[in-house]
Amino acid sequence: MLKDIISINDFTREDIISFLQEVFRMSEIPPEKKAKILKQKRVACLFFEPSTRTRLSFETAAQNLGARVIGFSQSQSSSVAKGESLIDTIKTVQCYADFIVIRHPLMGSARLAAEVADIPVINAGDGANQHPTQTLLDLYTIQKAFGRLDNLCIGFIGDLKYSRTVHSLVSALRYFKINLTFISPSALRLPKHIISQISGQETDDLQSVLSKLDLLYVTRIQKERFADPIEYKKVQSSYSISIKDLVGVKSNFKIMHPLPRVDELSYDVDETQYAIYFDQVINGVVVRETVLALSGGQNAT
Ligand code: CP
Repeated sequence: MLKDIISINDFTREDIISFLQEVFRMSEIPPEKKAKILKQKRVACLFFEPSTRTRLSFETAAQNLGARVIGFSQSQSSSVAKGESLIDTIKTVQCYADFIVIRHPLMGSARLAAEVADIPVINAGDGANQHPTQTLLDLYTIQKAFGRLDNLCIGFIGDLKYSRTVHSLVSALRYFKINLTFISPSALRLPKHIISQISGQETDDLQSVLSKLDLLYVTRIQKERFADPIEYKKVQSSYSISIKDLVGVKSNFKIMHPLPRVDELSYDVDETQYAIYFDQVINGVVVRETVLALSGGQNAT
């Protein structure tokens, strides 16, 4: 296992499969044994961007493993507000902690932190680039829901241009036999460097492809990534999925969403058999327990 978790592109297919096996092992460990895995260790969670799931699941995971948590959820409460650089922040935090979990609005920031730090650095999302631990929990959720990662038809809908969860997951899926469909307005298509890794169909019409999908991965339009608010307004309400749109789907059809959602996925879908986005939320804890344990050189067994 890699010391730093920066990009899913640093993983091979074998790395992903063996990681998921470790997650299944971690899920079987009783709480009292789990609490010894990172006893006396300290995890620094540095969130320069808002987060609910990633930060709280990392903190929960660290505490479940017996570690203590330090950090901030608003960079304005740190000396970054006084002009301190990311490099000096990382050099300082590593004096106090055994792991750094970092979310930052700038692409490449986690890689820079890993180059500076002597301790494991875990990317909790860097701009529109990568969100590797979200990808690992997405893959674990798919494996649990379907019993496999191959031979699936997966559609991605929404902001495929800026969504780091989509970028990471699509990059990982190139290792598996997946039929991919990308559904978005033309202004929000997948960046060329990602679509060049993998073959897939592009469309703006969900209904024309929905009945063949096993899984639909929905994402929010990432308002905060648009340089121009006028461009955001043009695509703001491009799509919204509710129960009435799900007629004719496969019997084992599923919907995933990394969350948060805004108005692209109606609450009436939540109680259907299709919704597994809160399974993703739950799975985030055991996946991040495994990430921390393995980055710290500990196996789940
Ligand atoms: N999925 C995800 O990254 O959610 P948060 O932004 O709430 O961490």
